Amino acid sequence: MTQTELVPGLAGIPAAESSISFINGQEGLLSYRGIRIEELAAHSNFEEVICLLWDGTLPTQAALDAFKERLRPHSKLHPDLERFVRALPLQGHPMEALQASLATLGMVSPRVDLRDPVARLDACLRTMGAVSTLIAAAERHRKGLPLVEPDPNLSIAGNFLYCLNGERPDAIKTRVLDCALVLHAEHTMNASTFACRVVASTETNPYTATSAAVGALYGPLHGGANERVLVQLESIGGPENVSAWVDKKMAAKEKVMGFGHRVYKTKDPRAKNLQILARELFEIHGSTPLYDTALRLEEEVTARLGGKGIYPNVDFFSGIVYQKLGIPTDVFTPIFALSRMAGWLAHWMEQMEDNKLFRPGQIYTGRKDVSYVPIGQRSAAGK
Ligand code: CMC
Repeated sequence: MTQTELVPGLAGIPAAESSISFINGQEGLLSYRGIRIEELAAHSNFEEVICLLWDGTLPTQAALDAFKERLRPHSKLHPDLERFVRALPLQGHPMEALQASLATLGMVSPRVDLRDPVARLDACLRTMGAVSTLIAAAERHRKGLPLVEPDPNLSIAGNFLYCLNGERPDAIKTRVLDCALVLHAEHTMNASTFACRVVASTETNPYTATSAAVGALYGPLHGGANERVLVQLESIGGPENVSAWVDKKMAAKEKVMGFGHRVYKTKDPRAKNLQILARELFEIHGSTPLYDTALRLEEEVTARLGGKGIYPNVDFFSGIVYQKLGIPTDVFTPIFALSRMAGWLAHWMEQMEDNKLFRPGQIYTGRKDVSYVPIGQRSAAGK
């Protein structure tokens, strides 16, 4: 079949068959392997969700324990990788550091035959196990602080907070981060997952495929929106300024960060769950004035743009939650990557199991039959 009409952004064009997750954008429904995200947010945890995404069903207690046992040793960084993290430039963005670190993780990992499903799973465990330590280590290096040895007995969320702050996180903060990781873990064929599958289709390892996905997630229209939402809320300066601020944005035809989604035409179910988490956290650790600004912003934007299907997306409340957890603003998107790593690796394995190299077409709009002009005879305009 040859598609002759361009669909910008490939909107709605299926790029793969997948049994990993499902979205109904009109109803605001998201499920992983058939289980609604609300149920997982209420009852599950990130490690269990990784098993669900990778294996297709919820693990038994014994299978979950065995999975954690296999994941555990990989939170400790290979000495060469640790040296690499210590040598990272200080001025870059943490997403750039993460992208480079994942490629380097591949360099220090064993060369294996990726046609073997056991070797594939092992490579995924190595990747998933290392990410929380990698992000935290790069952040401490950037701040000039000594790196913290990971504690393999902690959960991924707990280890991340421990390696970032150097002190044991309290139970509520760990639970809130764990739940945020559950909510961001997978989301069908978005830009970063597509990038991961395109790279996987060349039958390369998960380190390079997920490092490509990190590059895609970094952009402000994708995962990079969460840190911009926080900057935006801070710049508004309080709920009383929201209405005039939105008027100005609409007049300038500028986008409001944290709103709108290619698939959801109602409030993103993950935003609803993050809002619940934010409230739980505020009950114990106190609220933040940014939350009141956010609530007012939601009212004002949905009153103006709700008719177009524009509502808060996942990034709208995540920044408020992460800020309350004491996480620096530009580490918000790496946390998104830590979580989405679970989904990317599920897609990497699914692609490897039944692979066809991605090779889309294009609609050529350039000139044809142009003759070569020797350099001495060319004009400045290149004619
Ligand atoms: N604020 C104001 N207007 C908007 C917004 C917004 N956030 N989003 C879409 N619109 C308007 C847009 O101006 C356009 O209006 P018109 O038809 O009058 O030209 C219309 O809605 C369609 O916009 P679009 O950008 O063509 O639609 P899309 O389906 O490509 O949009 C989006 C998806 C996420 C790129 C867009 O909503 C956006 O840029 N949002 C702000 C950035 C953001 O919050 N991104 C996080 C996305 S969710 C997390 C993730 O997937 O990583």
